[in-house]
Amino acid sequence: LGQKMYYRNQVDSTQSIAHQLARDGAVHGTVVVADEQVKGRGRLHRPWHSQKGKGIWMSIILRPNIEPQRAPQLTLASAVAITRMLKSVCHVDAKIKWPNDIFLHNRKLAGILTEMQAEQDLIEYVIIGMGINVNQNQTDIPDSLTEIATSLKLETGETFKRETLIQSILKELEVIYDQYIQQGFSAVKSHWEEAAYRMGETITVKTRNQKWDALLVGIQDDGALIVEDQTQNRRVLYSAEIDWKRG
Ligand code: BTN
Repeated sequence: LGQKMYYRNQVDSTQSIAHQLARDGAVHGTVVVADEQVKGRGRLHRPWHSQKGKGIWMSIILRPNIEPQRAPQLTLASAVAITRMLKSVCHVDAKIKWPNDIFLHNRKLAGILTEMQAEQDLIEYVIIGMGINVNQNQTDIPDSLTEIATSLKLETGETFKRETLIQSILKELEVIYDQYIQQGFSAVKSHWEEAAYRMGETITVKTRNQKWDALLVGIQDDGALIVEDQTQNRRVLYSAEIDWKRG
């Protein structure tokens, strides 16, 4: 991964650039990194704050030969790659909140946005977008997010070189991606579980038209989330948002 890298000063979103490159035939492993995004986007059409020079705003083009419905597993594999980088380079123990958030000390440090182009049963390409807050100070974080978001600098007091972190993520992702392609999701699952956040705790689950309290049980062999309600009824979720009471 990263044999071909594109660096940009300012973009709307590295996702859009990556889509364009992929449509134009960019090879597997092509990476787009920007210093600043003016229209960074998160999951569920939320904006993603991408302050100039403060974080890692990066999109990776993958061309896996898997069924389109398995693409979300790549989000989980990417989350593992990020937590491994955080451990080896930054010496912090970050946790993964299903499906795509990386938490450090109970605040969100990074997010992953996976987008895909598929034709019937064939994936043309997948874009893994990663946003990691690295060197933001408290004043760089919008007031409305102070309670929920953080940066590596705020948590460790250290300033990190973004290039070093990027190199390490790409290395970690390459390892876990190869294992995933060769052995399937089982190669990712145990690593994911080691870093999983709030397992065995009560959380709130939100789907498109429902919201309820449940126990976080784990993930299935295909990466779907397993939750259990008060009457011990288990449900398997492929798409949902989880949260918990803060304070
Ligand atoms: C989320 O937590 O909702 C996902 C956030 C993903 C942000 C990254 S930053 C690089 C890439 N470009 C974007 O516009 N979004 C992703």
